[in-house]
Amino acid sequence: MADFSSPRRRFIQTLIVAALSGWGLLRFFSAAPAKASLLARIEDQRIPARGALVFRQQRFALIRDQGQVFALSLVCTHLGCTLTVTSRELTCPCHGSRFDQHGQVTRGPADRPLPRLRLEREGEDWLVYG
Ligand code: FES
Repeated sequence: MADFSSPRRRFIQTLIVAALSGWGLLRFFSAAPAKASLLARIEDQRIPARGALVFRQQRFALIRDQGQVFALSLVCTHLGCTLTVTSRELTCPCHGSRFDQHGQVTRGPADRPLPRLRLEREGEDWLVYG
């Protein structure tokens, strides 16, 4: 009499492993993106007509340029130091990277622009998410 229990058992084990792996991959690829949290609510009138309103502790700046408002991260894209905002540019005190007011790199070693944070208008306020 032939012994079918071992191959059958292996087959069932293989099915279980495949099902669990598939479930894990499905969960990995269908994971919902992390929700951004509200960093600040700022009255529009606080943002200067030209220049930036800096939130150093939360590491972002609200910038108004040609009627547009955007929130720029102040986290250096090189190694994560907090940038200093001057009237002309954003500079990194750690290794000297520089960025223009739109976050584009003007001097390395950083090689990526600064990301913009999500910004929503609610009445007279701006809501900044990070
Ligand atoms: S962390 Fe900003 S230049 Fe290195």
